[in-house]
Amino acid sequence: MSEPTIESVLHEARLFQPPADFSQQAHIKSLEDYQKLYDKAKANPEAFWAELAEQELHWFQKWDTVLDWQPPFAKWFVNGKINISYNCLDRHLTPERRDKAALIWEGEPGDSRTFTYAQLHEEVCRFANGLKQLGIHKGDRVGIYMPMIPEAAIAMLACARIGAIHTVVFGGFSAEALRDRMVDGKVKLVVTADGGWRKDAIVPLKEQVNKALADPATASVEKVLVVQRTQQATEMQADRDVWWHELEPTLSADCPAEPMDSEDVLFILYTSGSTGKPKGVVHTTGGYNLYTHITTQWIFDLQATDVYWCTADVGWITGHSYIVYGPLSNGATSLMYEGAPRPSNPGCFWDVIEKHKVTIFYTAPTAIRTFIKMGEDLPKARDLSSLRLLGTVGEPINPEAWMWYHRVIGGERCPIVDTWWQTETGGILITPLPGAIPTKPGSATCPFPGILADVVDLDGDTVGNNEGGYLAVRYPWPGMMRTVYGDPDRFRRTYWEHIPPKDGHYTYFAGDGARRDEDGYFWIMGRVDDVINVAGHRLGTMEIESALVSHPAVAEAAVVGKPDELKGQDIVAFVTLEGSFSPTEALGKELKQHVVKEIGAIARPGEIRFADALPKTRSGKIMRRLLRGLAAGEEISGDTSTLEDRGVLDRLREGT
Ligand code: WT7
Repeated sequence: MSEPTIESVLHEARLFQPPADFSQQAHIKSLEDYQKLYDKAKANPEAFWAELAEQELHWFQKWDTVLDWQPPFAKWFVNGKINISYNCLDRHLTPERRDKAALIWEGEPGDSRTFTYAQLHEEVCRFANGLKQLGIHKGDRVGIYMPMIPEAAIAMLACARIGAIHTVVFGGFSAEALRDRMVDGKVKLVVTADGGWRKDAIVPLKEQVNKALADPATASVEKVLVVQRTQQATEMQADRDVWWHELEPTLSADCPAEPMDSEDVLFILYTSGSTGKPKGVVHTTGGYNLYTHITTQWIFDLQATDVYWCTADVGWITGHSYIVYGPLSNGATSLMYEGAPRPSNPGCFWDVIEKHKVTIFYTAPTAIRTFIKMGEDLPKARDLSSLRLLGTVGEPINPEAWMWYHRVIGGERCPIVDTWWQTETGGILITPLPGAIPTKPGSATCPFPGILADVVDLDGDTVGNNEGGYLAVRYPWPGMMRTVYGDPDRFRRTYWEHIPPKDGHYTYFAGDGARRDEDGYFWIMGRVDDVINVAGHRLGTMEIESALVSHPAVAEAAVVGKPDELKGQDIVAFVTLEGSFSPTEALGKELKQHVVKEIGAIARPGEIRFADALPKTRSGKIMRRLLRGLAAGEEISGDTSTLEDRGVLDRLREGT
């Protein structure tokens, strides 16, 4: 673990007040209102969450205990019965809302579909009946490996409806990565598509599924349900694979939502850590429903007529919480887009905003930095006046990018919510409430009511204002992950023991460095572990190292992040070779491609540096601090006295 440093963070003084007309009609209207809510929640978190759960959600049966906290294991709304698909669909089938658009979808080639709440309900019921017909029962795991098409959201809601546990795998992951997740989750059925559109090309998803399932380790998978999207030819295995368009006409649209226990698992989502293979983050039903519901409502200040667009992929937690579950639970209109800005259509995001009169736009800093590079002319050529609120997520946003977003996209009238959270937290924990909290470019500002966030040292003591420390949470919240799938010990070790529990009091360790300024605003400084963030995608350096050493030419590999203007961080791999191989450009290319095959294109190293040895301590530990410095092109200073062979450093610097 590395020490958080504060030098890298600008001391930003600009302050932006929420616009008065925005505040007037907002859910939370002033700093005083926020403060009151915060204090109320802090004084009695259980009462705060229970009141919201009662007001905001439909329960088949009320809970008897709000929180059962046996650190680090939490249960929320114990013995409550609830179904998140019911809360996202059935309860909106009122005369006023049934014909409102629930999902607006734009495909990359320009096709488009809209589902009203009534239509989406019908589709989900049919899909749920399809899953049942293929042998899926409550508690079974269903893999979802899909492009950004409506059926991805429909499949998730269908699983939730019958109590099957979904595990969505981002469509950009390779067959190998998919296989690992299917094996770990003991998945029984995979939902996929023939292909998906990605930057004017077809990604052959079903081919990847075929490859993944060729491995006998995936024997738990009995069926594959295939949605037709691209008319891509694919080999269908007769006893295993079923076309959705052939099954659909045979299915009834009547499928009551299964009353689930609050603590029944809703989904598993794999994410990278600093050690070992990706871990299955487990989220359960009741607490997750409440937390995504109320954070979406207050942070995006949802109003009845909003058209809300989050540009994430449903393969990530952002897509789960803030494309599907949060917006739909609120009865909002959620827009889903298959495409991405690309050379043939760099202005596509602005076209989508203009076409659908999007009012709330939520994207990642890496995307904003790319827009800056593409120039102001593209967004200025479109009418973006429908926008009233902007959001960012995934990595720290540099103040210059914030200012550009504010000026060029927000027309200087839209508040910006910089939202800090993680796959593990289920929903946003630190963020402005746009009608209440003045913003500072580059700061995620203040904790959401009910979130006792803190900046601490490794003893768990709160550090002083403007001192760097570790971001931590002092009390459980309803949306928090419950465990690592199949590995409760890893859950305890990774999140609850870095900061030693004191008097039975446990503190959640987020893995991020942070500082809190004199106004109590949080400034997130990036990961303090061996996790890197490349274009908003989270990757474990060990995962990439394992991928590299699985290539016959590689003896040893050490992967670090280096600062990158567009992506935030880029991947640099230091590699030593087996005796019979020599470092050539062709081999460098081959190794990059090998990582793509093992993990996916998001993990492709930007640079491979061949070395004759890696810098190690006398006890054999790779000195990553040195490698990070070398990768960033810094002069290596500081203590190198523990380095075993000083010559290694000179040779690396010279780039052998
Ligand atoms: C890591 C979590 C949950 C959103 C998508 C990423 C970084 C996330 C911010 C932000 C600074 C941020 C952190 C965090 N991060 N949002 N607003 N400011 N850093 O989810 O893949 O689980 O990654 O993303 O480092 O730990 P994830």
